[in-house]
Amino acid sequence: MTTRYRVEYALKTHRRDQLIEWIKGLLAVPFVLNSQPAVEHDDKNAHSLDTMARSARQRYAEIFRDVEDLILDQINHQETSTRSKLSMLVPTISTFFTPLALEDAFRHQDSIRAISSRRFVAPSFNDIRLILNTAQILAIVQPKPYRTLKTKLQPGLDLLTFDGDVTLYEDGASLHSPESDPVITRLLYFLSRGVRIGIVTAAGYTQPEHYFNRLSGLLLAVKSSQELKREQKENLIIMGGESNFLLVFDESAEHCLRYIHRREWILDAMKGWNEPAIQALLDVAESAFHSCIRTLHLQAKVLRKERAVGIYAADQSQKLTREQLEETVLVVQQVLEASFNEPGHGNKAAHADIPFTVFNGGADVFLDIGDKSLGVQACQKWFGGIPPSNTLHVGDQFLSGGGNDFKARSACCCAWIASPVETVALLDEIIQLHKS
Ligand code: IMP
Ligand code: MG
Repeated sequence: MTTRYRVEYALKTHRRDQLIEWIKGLLAVPFVLNSQPAVEHDDKNAHSLDTMARSARQRYAEIFRDVEDLILDQINHQETSTRSKLSMLVPTISTFFTPLALEDAFRHQDSIRAISSRRFVAPSFNDIRLILNTAQILAIVQPKPYRTLKTKLQPGLDLLTFDGDVTLYEDGASLHSPESDPVITRLLYFLSRGVRIGIVTAAGYTQPEHYFNRLSGLLLAVKSSQELKREQKENLIIMGGESNFLLVFDESAEHCLRYIHRREWILDAMKGWNEPAIQALLDVAESAFHSCIRTLHLQAKVLRKERAVGIYAADQSQKLTREQLEETVLVVQQVLEASFNEPGHGNKAAHADIPFTVFNGGADVFLDIGDKSLGVQACQKWFGGIPPSNTLHVGDQFLSGGGNDFKARSACCCAWIASPVETVALLDEIIQLHKS
């Protein structure tokens, strides 16, 4: 990589979402043309500011309708594997499993966030992220009949999957009780409506006790629920280590969880992975972590697990910096990719076919065997084959480099939240739509 390429890559590609940036660029023009920063904000000028907001609202809505149409066109092209206009405008675009009701979602978020009334702050990354989330849940729960859409989709939400840290609880925290963690009552609501729930987390343990420590508030609330039937309770599962360990809710088990042996649930794609190749991949990653500790002078320790290896701060009071974490992610990723073609391994190293995830966990960096795409697909398979269009994954890490939820995009619809509070707000939005 040349320096220029590195700078472009580091500044743009892995730290930005291309679709959101592109939409932001489209909205910047009507913002600049409509906004009236010179007008004083008082009762005298209320009329002209109202007119400005109305005009901006209309122009923004038109842009969202146009992007909605481009996404419909993209879905039709996915059917025939031909190139859509949207894929030329945003080359990193991934598969869409449903249309996105962007115009309606914009109007809804604008009524809450008053985006079109702003004169100094243009439509932002967060505005667009939240509009995309609303558009996605509208499309799943209350789909519009699109005449131009060639694929016929079954509407409805059948499976909700969640990331753990930052999504269900604060980073490194746990779910204690329905009083302290309002997400618990929402999860119970979905279980009571027959929706399956999978917690697809990077946290990788084989012992139910470790998950119980993080999720006791949820597990005990499900166990003691009088409203939930036994089958509904068993619709709660945990996929740990991205896609490595499956545990199912079981009220008679000691920690409310039953560990399911891999042979009972793995995907066909995982059947060819052999243990020596997995360990070879972890060996390469472990030595890359050690070399980062040396070159970046990290005060960090290495932790090697059955299906993962990572680093964390040696002294918990001295956190690793964002720069250290991100550099480590990119170095480990590059070292692994280079190791696939090393001389002495024939054309390709044995571990080259094993998918892996390297990500910045906020306070640590981990490399896991597998990824959340496989984790979500394994949940879909466990529940008898739920289609991607009826699955929603909620997570906080959707940047293409250094985010582990990003991979879930290729298995299902996704909602990108930034905190556990936003997760609750998103679930409340879905519950409102369910009821209306
Ligand atoms: P997630 O946000 O639910 O995906 O959890 C990610 C966090 O789990 C990481 O930042 C780590 O702190 C923690 N963790 C514990 N064990 C593992 C592991 O084996 N692999 C990756 N992360 C792990
Ligand atoms: Mg997370």
